[in-house]
Amino acid sequence: MRLDIISIFPEYFAPLDVSLIGKARERGTLDVRVHQLRDWAHDVHKTVDDTPYGGGPGMVMKPEVWGEAIDTVIGAPGEAPPPRMIVPTPSGRPFTQELAQELAGEPWLLFACGRYEGIDSRVMAEYSARLRVDEVSIGDYVLAGGEVAVLVMVEAVGRLLPGVLGNAQSAVDDSFAPGSMRNLVEGPVYTKPPVWRGHEVPAVLLSGHHGNVARWRRDEAIRRTVRNRPELAAALDPETLDKHDRKLLEELSFRLQPEDMAN
Ligand code: ADE
Repeated sequence: MRLDIISIFPEYFAPLDVSLIGKARERGTLDVRVHQLRDWAHDVHKTVDDTPYGGGPGMVMKPEVWGEAIDTVIGAPGEAPPPRMIVPTPSGRPFTQELAQELAGEPWLLFACGRYEGIDSRVMAEYSARLRVDEVSIGDYVLAGGEVAVLVMVEAVGRLLPGVLGNAQSAVDDSFAPGSMRNLVEGPVYTKPPVWRGHEVPAVLLSGHHGNVARWRRDEAIRRTVRNRPELAAALDPETLDKHDRKLLEELSFRLQPEDMAN
């Protein structure tokens, strides 16, 4: 997969040399190219922003600079299939595991990092005619710029690429990954020693009984989802719940729709 990132702070992306993503780059699974936006600014001060039309606080990133940068990175029309463009912004669509999976299937992604109050909207309008452009938010909080959001997205997407994770099953077991534990967060995990500072590992995990272990893990996932993510628990599809799940939810005083409890 090829990844281009345009930013006024290329230094932010040093972590992409490290760990799983760094190794994927060394192996050639990931081809990451970080570009300095100011290279496409022509005045002595390398200006990339200006005051907003209509007034208000802050500055807006200039369309001409972004246009030249993106044109150069994507090449002439028709040269190669163009990248999918991602613009991190708190006003974008939510970044989810599902979107990460979708992006992991793309051959080429271009991330355009805005700072200040954002990028002049005509840039997204211009490229929407030529590429798939998504404005994406990583959560309901405001960062100082899109760089950290891009690091988050690159890590989430990168670890899904074939051969990036040592154990491919890890990505399958993830909270939010499609499958039987869909829409449940993962429960607690333990390793050796069996007793640490008086805290014991739950006996079932030492039992070697795979069926009981799976049942216990599912119960713990349900408990944790109810406790930490009640909105996810409320949205559970009753079709995916067995009798035991329903009984546990009842014990936790978590009420599904009454008609669903009847099944
Ligand atoms: N830029 C600033 N805040 C952001 C957020 N929450 N998600 C994506 N990009 C951002």
